[in-house]
Amino acid sequence: MGELTPETITDAVLDQMAMTPDPRMREVMASAVKHLHAFAREVNLTPAEWIKGIEFMTAVGKICTPARQECILLSDTLGLSALVNGLHDNTAVEEGTHTSLLGPFYREASPSLSAGSHIARTVKPGSECVLYGRVSDVNGKPLANATVSIWQTGADGLYDIQENAASTDYRGVFTTDADGVYVLRTVKPIGYSIPMDGPVGAMVRAQGRHGMRPAHIHFLVGAPGYRELVTALYLRDDPYIADDVVFGPSGDLAVEIETNDPSCPIKGLPSIRFDMRLSREGAADKTSGRVGSDPAAILKPTARTGQSPASAAG
Ligand code: BEZ
Ligand code: FE
Repeated sequence: MGELTPETITDAVLDQMAMTPDPRMREVMASAVKHLHAFAREVNLTPAEWIKGIEFMTAVGKICTPARQECILLSDTLGLSALVNGLHDNTAVEEGTHTSLLGPFYREASPSLSAGSHIARTVKPGSECVLYGRVSDVNGKPLANATVSIWQTGADGLYDIQENAASTDYRGVFTTDADGVYVLRTVKPIGYSIPMDGPVGAMVRAQGRHGMRPAHIHFLVGAPGYRELVTALYLRDDPYIADDVVFGPSGDLAVEIETNDPSCPIKGLPSIRFDMRLSREGAADKTSGRVGSDPAAILKPTARTGQSPASAAG
C-alpha cells in the first residue's frame, strides 16, 4: 500500500469500498465519503472540531426516545428533509400538491373520526375553526374514500406527544366523501418553536436563528393507486412564513382563514380550505416516500429485552 496522505486517503477509502455488492449502497457511500472528505479539506478540520462534531452527533442520538426524534429534527433544521422532499416530488408521474415536512411528531396510532368531528379536546374562546377541502387527482377528479390524517399543536404550541406520550389530542384520521371532501373542527394553527432544549436547539441558537415554524397543520393523505402525499398547510400572513427554521412552506401550500366562506360545509365558524391533488402512483412509489416517521417506529422494542434500544442502553 502506498503512503496515505490527505491527498490520497479519499481514493484509498473508495478503493476499499468498491467491492460493496449492493450497487446503490456503493454509489451512495462513495459519494458521501467524497463529499465528507472534501468538506474536511475545505475547512481544514481540526482535531478539536472533529471531537466537537462527534460529541454533537452522540448527543443527538442519545436524546432520542420513542416520543422524540432529534435526528429528524437535525435533518429538518439543516434543510436536508426539505431537499429530499423536493427530489421526491420530482420523481412523481404527475405534478400534484407539493410535499412538506412530516416532522418528528407524526404518530401512526391516531383515532379514526367521522366527518365534522372535533380533533381538539381543549378549545380556547375564539380559537375554533373549520378545516375542510377536496382531495382530487391532478385533473380535479374527486377521490372518494381517501384517508386524510391530520395533526397539529394546541394553543401552547406543543404536540400531544410532547406533553404526554400516552394521550392523543389535536390529531385524527378522516375519510373523504363521494365528492372527495373531508371536513373537521379544530383550533386555528399557531406558529411555534421547534424543541430547543436539546443539541439541535443549541446548534440553532449558536447560529443566531429564531427556531420558529410558521402556523401550519400537517396532512398525510392516501388513496389506492395514488402516490401518498405528506404535506402541510401554512397560514400566509404568518410572520415566519418566509424563514421557517425547517424550510417547510412552498407556494401552493399557503392558505388564509376565511370568516364567511359560502362553500364551507359547516357554517358559523372561521374556516380554512385546503384542497390537495394526488399524483397517480408510479415506479418510484414502490418504497415509502415519507421523509420522517413516527418516532416510536424508529426505536422499536428489542426482541430480547422488550425495551426500546434507547432505554435498554440507558
Ligand atoms: C413540525 O412541524 O411538527 C416540525 C417539523 C420539523 C421540525 C420540528 C417540528
Ligand atoms: Fe408541525
